Formats: sequence, C-alpha cells, structure tokens
Amino acid sequence: MTTDTAGQFVSDVGADGRVPDELVAAYREHGFVRVRGVLEPGLVERFRTGAEAFLEAHRTESLEKQGVFSQLVNVWQRDQTLRGLTLDLRLGRIAEQLAGFPLRLWHDQMLVKEPHNNAATEFHQDRPYWPHAGDRLPLSAWIALVDVPPERGCMTFLPGTQHRVGLRPQDLHHEEDLFAADPSLRWLPRVTVPLRAGDCTFHSGYTGHMALPNRTGQARLAHVNIYMDEATTYSGSEHIVTDPLGLAVGDRLDGDAFPRPWASGA
Ligand code: SIN
Ligand code: NI
Repeated sequence: MTTDTAGQFVSDVGADGRVPDELVAAYREHGFVRVRGVLEPGLVERFRTGAEAFLEAHRTESLEKQGVFSQLVNVWQRDQTLRGLTLDLRLGRIAEQLAGFPLRLWHDQMLVKEPHNNAATEFHQDRPYWPHAGDRLPLSAWIALVDVPPERGCMTFLPGTQHRVGLRPQDLHHEEDLFAADPSLRWLPRVTVPLRAGDCTFHSGYTGHMALPNRTGQARLAHVNIYMDEATTYSGSEHIVTDPLGLAVGDRLDGDAFPRPWASGA
C-alpha cells in the first residue's frame, strides 16, 4: 500500500487476488480506499462496451430524473456481460477482506454522468436509503470503466464518517443536506479520489461522499457493486429492489436475488 501526496490510501491487488493488510486497516480507519487495476485492460474494454450498449438500450428507465446521473439498477439480472462484473469473484472477495465478514450482493447500479451534465451528486451516506436491519457495515465498490479525473465526476469522501450512524436519509440533490443533518461534518477534511479506468474505490455505507460534475465531453461510466452483511434482514421500508419481493419485516435478504458466488463452496 502507498499513501500518495493527497493522503489517499491506495494499493494494487496482489497476485493472490488479495489486498495488503495495511489497506484493510486504512479502510477500517477512514471508511474508504482505492484499489488500482482491479480490472485488467481487456476486461475494462469488455465491460465498458457492455455498459455503453446497455445504457443506449435502457437510458430512459433511469431512476434519477434530475440529470445528476443515469441510474440503472440490478443490471446483472438483465445483461450477461455486466453480470460478470457484478458477480466478479475477485471483487467480492476483496470486499469481504475489507469488511471482515461474509457478504451478499445487495444490488448493483450503473451510474453514468452524461457528457457536460454539470451537476454534482451532493454529499450523502448510502445506508440510510436502504431497508436493512441487523447488519454490520455494508460497502460499495465503485468501478471506473473510463478514466475518471475530477473534471469527469470522481468521488470525494469524508474520512472517518463510517462511524456516523443514525442520521436521516439525505437528499443527494442538495449541497447542504448532509451538513444540515450533522453540522459537524462540514469541517472534516474532504478527500477527492481520481480513478483510472479499471480502478475502483470501496466506501462503507455510512461514509459521507459526493461526486463532482462531469464537465467533459465524454460520459463518466461507473459500475457500482453494493455488498451487504450476509445476515442482513428486511426492515420493512420501501425500496425499489425489495418492493416486488413480498418480504415480511425480519426476513433475511438472501436467496437468488442476493447472491454470494464468492463464498467458498458456493
Ligand atoms: C455518483 O457516482 O455520482 C455517486 C455515487 C454514490 O453516491 O455512491
Ligand atoms: Ni452514494
């Protein structure tokens, strides 16, 4: 692992498919890390082409309508190529290494900032949006399928905020909303993490984060795999992923909709 000049915690994947223990420690301390070259160039090309084709066919189904990003959820259930990225064993195992306990897929999402979208994804935490209970800290792999420098809409994190639980859900369209929910967070350092195509960040479900606007002429293509504690149960709140499933409060989020192919013996 290295600490770069901006104080970011970054590592390559080892030949054994694992990340160094120091990176795990950095994730636990700061609530996010960057992993370089998690996808080799041939795979980046395959998934980027697949993502572009899927976006072209499904853009109008985006859940987000205000132009911050095009958001397509659970693409793994509809696209054979992108299924390979969402269910990637190496990514799932690194996520488990960082978390320190068994994980399932919660859902994936393609998050595309269209060229010149000029709209930031404002600061928020992810976990307050989710209908989860009985869980330890979930985490997301945000995978860059194109180079994502700051001007194309990379992410910025608030280190240490993975411990700030219990806040209401925050509106990612409003710059001030997270800071209205907890004014102390405004004064934390903000760490911006540019990614090369094939790199990813992992951030926890409570780590405060935002993404800059895309001011370039090229789409920002990101694919996000969200992993949850294998023992997570359903809280009863509404959510697009769980609404069709007919769940009762307290049901385990397991089975075919929430796979864990990276489990040994799976
Ligand atoms: C984004 O990519 O624009 C936001 C990602 C996130 O909120 O997790
Ligand atoms: Ni988020």
